[in-house]
Amino acid sequence: MKVGFIGAGKVGFTLGKYFCEHDIEVTGYYSRSIQSAKKAAAFTATAAYENRSQLVADSDVLFFTVPDDCIASTFEAVRHEPIQGKIFCHCSGVLTASVGFPSIEQAGASGYSVHPLFAISDRYQSYRELADVFFTLEGSSDRLASQQEWLKSTGLHVQIIPAAAKMRYHCAAAIASNQVVALFAESQQLLLGLWLLRRGRAAGP
Ligand SMILES: NC(=O)c1ccc[n+]([C@@H]2O[C@H](COP(=O)([O-])OP(=O)(O)OC[C@H]3O[C@@H](n4cnc5c(N)ncnc54)[C@H](OP(=O)(O)O)[C@@H]3O)[C@@H](O)[C@H]2O)c1
Repeated sequence: MKVGFIGAGKVGFTLGKYFCEHDIEVTGYYSRSIQSAKKAAAFTATAAYENRSQLVADSDVLFFTVPDDCIASTFEAVRHEPIQGKIFCHCSGVLTASVGFPSIEQAGASGYSVHPLFAISDRYQSYRELADVFFTLEGSSDRLASQQEWLKSTGLHVQIIPAAAKMRYHCAAAIASNQVVALFAESQQLLLGLWLLRRGRAAGP
């Protein structure tokens, strides 16, 4: 299975490098700017594509690692190309496969959301941690089980979830991570204020 990436950002760099290190053939990258595609290609020893259609033609699996609000429009731009038999994946935590790739089965292809439950913050380092990350997978029923097996064969931890659970799953993840960080910061500010108050009293007249 040859894997191509549309979107050379944090997740594109990270997954691409991880796949290369686990004997998956990565064709290369297409991105909004050719500079990003070239940097990702250099990092993974793959190719930078100036032509998105060529990347699609050269790849069996396409990862759309673009911002969430660009996934459906990017798919719309390629859906009329020869994509029969290909697998399309996006990595959004909140969007289902069918929102990113509407009616993809009618084009003879399959679509999946493959979400890493992890903050990927560093284009060049995060791939080292990917083997410990929990991924969720949902999408076209025809190849769902084989898609899970393929991802697991690279060493990733992948759990299938129902599409209907995606919103709740993403909400739970946000509460357990983003909101915990916000609560911690709030608590820290309160304690810091207490400390400053005590210090002010101690130094008083
Ligand atoms: N980062 C995380 O922690 C994380 C975790 C889980 C899931 N995700 C998901 O992963 C996906 C990618 O996120 P990210 O963090 O990697 O974002 P990112 O670092 O901002 O990278 C997105 C890349 O997409 C490219 N791009 C934007 N519009 C494009 C278009 N129309 N066509 C082609 N390329 C385009 C940009 O390219 P240029 O550089 O060329 O301008 C950018 O490098 C999102 O669906 C996000 O929800 C992210």
